[in-house]
Amino acid sequence: MSDAASRIDETRLWQRHVDMAKLGGLPKGGVNRQALSAEDAAARRLIGGWAQARGYDLFGDPIGNLYIRRAGTENDAAPVVTGSHMDSQPTGGKYDGIYGVLAGFEALEALDDAGIRTRRPVQVVAWMNEEGSRFQPGAMGSSVWSGHDDLEKMLSVTDREGVVLRDALARTLAEAPVRQVDGFDRNFHAYIEAHIEQGPRLEAGAKTIGVVTGIQGSQRYTLDIVGEEAHAGTTPLRVRKDALKSAVAIVSALERHMHDPADVVRFTVGRFECRPGSPNTVPGHVHFTIDFRHPDAAVLARLGSGIEAVAKAAVGPCSVTVQRITDVAPTVFDARIVDLVRDKANALGLPNMDMPSGAGHDAMHVAPFCPAGMIFVPCERGISHNEAEAATPSDLAAGARVLVASLEALANE
Ligand code: HGY
Ligand code: MN
Ligand code: MN
Repeated sequence: MSDAASRIDETRLWQRHVDMAKLGGLPKGGVNRQALSAEDAAARRLIGGWAQARGYDLFGDPIGNLYIRRAGTENDAAPVVTGSHMDSQPTGGKYDGIYGVLAGFEALEALDDAGIRTRRPVQVVAWMNEEGSRFQPGAMGSSVWSGHDDLEKMLSVTDREGVVLRDALARTLAEAPVRQVDGFDRNFHAYIEAHIEQGPRLEAGAKTIGVVTGIQGSQRYTLDIVGEEAHAGTTPLRVRKDALKSAVAIVSALERHMHDPADVVRFTVGRFECRPGSPNTVPGHVHFTIDFRHPDAAVLARLGSGIEAVAKAAVGPCSVTVQRITDVAPTVFDARIVDLVRDKANALGLPNMDMPSGAGHDAMHVAPFCPAGMIFVPCERGISHNEAEAATPSDLAAGARVLVASLEALANE
């Protein structure tokens, strides 16, 4: 019996990324594999085939999370879990999310190939809709699993074409059928998620492994500004209720509200829709999103509580409705898991550094239920949520080695 880390197969892991990147592949090299799309169903079928070939148990839960389970000698023991997400941004990269699922699957295969039996089952989860670009909010699958969001409420969410999530999920499961379980099993012994860093620090520090200490908190809102459509040629400005003009004033006021000389607040208006969008009609409705983040819960609460007042003060002759879509507190990972990841990276001779995560991950919803942590690997120039996202086969394999060594230790506790 050899040790599992030495059985991580860099070529096999890289080829699985190549195979997955074809599902939703884009001309500039990225992927568009949004939640519950045909491409997502194809990814579920692909990894399901790999899992069945290995004899792993494959099953799904009521919100569409997909589980791949390698049996333990005590199969009723609480499993050690890893995973991430297979859905992508509309112009996403080939590694965001999928790396955590494939590194987890590679860990199962390495345990097989090393002839290792673990006491506890080891389980990979592909969380549904982490990106939240088609259906809001993001990290939806892990959020419903944790009870942070309500199942029925999330099943009723619609995308911009009016497709209801419940129907999209039914279609996905019809295209990628899998045994369904009732409810959500939160009895995890521990959870470790592998992910690309999506920032420049590991590359700048010439480190291979990020020992992730926590995740900053985040809030997301939608704002709807309603004015009055009018003729662009005949309507004097003094009587207009121009929703675009009001929305621009609100965004500028919010920029001032969120201003942080230390550049720690992350404030983003990522979606901005102006209707009816006709060049010679004064806009009657603007819809836009706010995503903002900070590591300090008190700062998040203070800035978030001020949004509606700032918007109402700047809206002018129009009206504004502010809806909070999600509010996730900052996460501090369990010191025992953080230390384990660092010890395994050191034992493997991999240069590493402790660091927080600026990006959100499903681990933030798992951490309240069991000892949890994350492993980062570098991505080129820290670029992500961009088709140019890039990583190297050796870094991906290095992260998988730290992952399987950590999972094996936890699975024999
Ligand atoms: O938005 C996030 O932080 C995650 O990458 N979806
Ligand atoms: Mn991700
Ligand atoms: Mn992402």
